[in-house]
Amino acid sequence: MRHIVLIGFMGSGKTETGKRLAQEMRIPFLDVDKKITSEMRMSVADIFSRFGEVFFRALETKAIKELGQEKQRMVISVGGGLPMQQQNHKYLKEIGIIVYLKGSVDTLKRRLQGDRTRPLLQGADLEGKIRKMLAAREPVYEKLADITVVTADQSFRELIGQIRKQVEEYEKSKMIDN
Ligand code: S3P
Repeated sequence: MRHIVLIGFMGSGKTETGKRLAQEMRIPFLDVDKKITSEMRMSVADIFSRFGEVFFRALETKAIKELGQEKQRMVISVGGGLPMQQQNHKYLKEIGIIVYLKGSVDTLKRRLQGDRTRPLLQGADLEGKIRKMLAAREPVYEKLADITVVTADQSFRELIGQIRKQVEEYEKSKMIDN
């Protein structure tokens, strides 16, 4: 098993959790959105408005493909929409163990309220948007995940402890299988 890949809806805490998890494990952290925005020298919102969502999705696929070449083990967080492209599944599966950070509508809404950086959530009725998108996305996240961890009110310390324990158990079970 190589990288640890965090997937989940916007606001599920993938980036912050990923950073802290990587720190504890003493391995690098990489955020796919950050990789894209650094390479493009533009924000996600600007990429969407200037080039459109389809273009952004192509950049996501290119980025996740490239990470397959990375030899050193890392924690990687991917944008909430990346797993929604079927073509990305094989790259995700290939690069490592997939951890789904699962948040309830209430938790996600609380964290996303007032956010201006995510183009898909702008405008009225945040809760309605979250519900609708989550209904379509949750089954995909669940199907892809090797491990699911519910993120709610626990501290980062607890959350990271839960992830590490489950990753270890998963890896042990894979060693026995092989
Ligand atoms: C998106 C999620 C965002 C970012 C873009 C689109 C999505 O990343 O990639 O705004 O479609 O869910 P986060 O999940 O890190 O917020």
